[in-house]
Amino acid sequence: MELLFREDPYTIESLVFDDKEVKFRAFEHRIYCADPIDPEHQELSIYVPEEYYEEGTTGKYDLRTAPIFMPNTIGGFRPGYFQRPGIDHHGKVTASAIALYLGYVVVVPTARGIGLKDEFDINIGVVPAALVDLKAAIRYLRHNKDVIPGDTERIITNGTSAGGAMSALLGSTGNHPDFEPYLKEIGACDERDDVFAASCYCPITDLDHADMAYEWEFGGRNEYHMNKLVVNEEAAKENGVTEEMLDSLNHNGHPDFSKLPEELRHKIVEKVPVTENMTIQQGYLSRDLAKMYPAYINSLNLRDERENTLQLNPDGTGTFRAWIARQVIRSMEKAVLDDYNMKEYPWIDFHNDRPVGFDWEAFVDFRTRMKPTPAFDKTGEPGSPENKVFGSLRIDNRHFTTFGYLHDKSGWPKVPAEIVKLYNPLYYIADPRATKAKNFRIRAGALDRDTSLAVSSILTLALRNNSIPVDYFIPWDTGHGGDYDTGDLFLWIRNITR
Ligand code: DHB
Repeated sequence: MELLFREDPYTIESLVFDDKEVKFRAFEHRIYCADPIDPEHQELSIYVPEEYYEEGTTGKYDLRTAPIFMPNTIGGFRPGYFQRPGIDHHGKVTASAIALYLGYVVVVPTARGIGLKDEFDINIGVVPAALVDLKAAIRYLRHNKDVIPGDTERIITNGTSAGGAMSALLGSTGNHPDFEPYLKEIGACDERDDVFAASCYCPITDLDHADMAYEWEFGGRNEYHMNKLVVNEEAAKENGVTEEMLDSLNHNGHPDFSKLPEELRHKIVEKVPVTENMTIQQGYLSRDLAKMYPAYINSLNLRDERENTLQLNPDGTGTFRAWIARQVIRSMEKAVLDDYNMKEYPWIDFHNDRPVGFDWEAFVDFRTRMKPTPAFDKTGEPGSPENKVFGSLRIDNRHFTTFGYLHDKSGWPKVPAEIVKLYNPLYYIADPRATKAKNFRIRAGALDRDTSLAVSSILTLALRNNSIPVDYFIPWDTGHGGDYDTGDLFLWIRNITR
């Protein structure tokens, strides 16, 4: 298959939101690799402000110079689905719609993810499929740089959660030889795949240490508050979903919603908040995991802005925790400016109405635990999205930590270390064979407990310690999600691209 971009066919579309109107040209569903395994999840769509095709463009950019905003739609390590700029599943204006309005070229790639199987029942979305697909999309853009709208040397990736992890990986693994065999397998173009900048909302990274991080933060708390996913029977009926189809989701006695197409999932699966208690056994696991974290943190040799070493004591306190606490205080300071009544929290210390400190344990109680122990590498069925993304072609769940493997209850094997590495940016940041993005923007909400605040902190520090600028912030009153501060996001993009 040839991988030359052709303009035809395209459509001219128009979008109205917040009394703004934007006209754009849509080049949709271009397959970006020569040997796709799943063409629906290995294609991209390009959206271009229509003004670039008209005479006398007034904006700052033109068809050749506009930076490329490249969001991915990956969540929960499920496949990245096709999404036009406009209104998303939650009724929110997408960042890509705003990007078009601001004059950026938008490229939305799809990508493989968990739940996808081929006709031989082979898992086709396991590590490193999604990342390899996104890299292939970038290579396709470069391969066609003379005919494609936008500046392929100014690609800014964006993603949330698992998609935030993918954005972080794109920004830290550029052109690394580890991915070459996988790129060859799908017939990706022979081009560079590094990007200019990476925007990462609540990146779910450092999976091989995320269980320890979670217990370092939430240890001692038995109660967990999470959303259970349930099928809304009425919505299922309305969407023509039969009992039989629902039964087919069953995986060892548990429904596996990652098997559903994204659109349908949003229509028929509901989140119901539940509060449950961990078992005594889980309490023991929590304590054991928490104890392992300081040695890991100390092995990273992280440094703060003044070159002070950041460490943890055996009891979990220390300069690394104090660094995170400083980020939380920055968050509180901004919250005061945004008119939050911070005085309602008795555990925050003020000096002249300015937050200057807080009780760490009370802050973590305020955040609350979301996941029972272990948070990521589950000991058995039904398995986490992470167990599944680390599955093999034939095995649906695998362990990616020694701890999880040693406590296995379901007979799952362990992933080889060189495969775990592929989804952890930390292994690439100091590797000169990986081209890093020139800029990162990382956000983790103060109420986001999908992973520990330590995880985004380590990513930030590791990048900065390797001289890569990171705009890091923990927005107050913000849970798990992304694209909630598009004004600031696009200011950051404007500043780094000027
Ligand atoms: C996502 C959330 C999680 O809690 C997780 O473990 C992995 C991915 C997500 O929202 O993408």
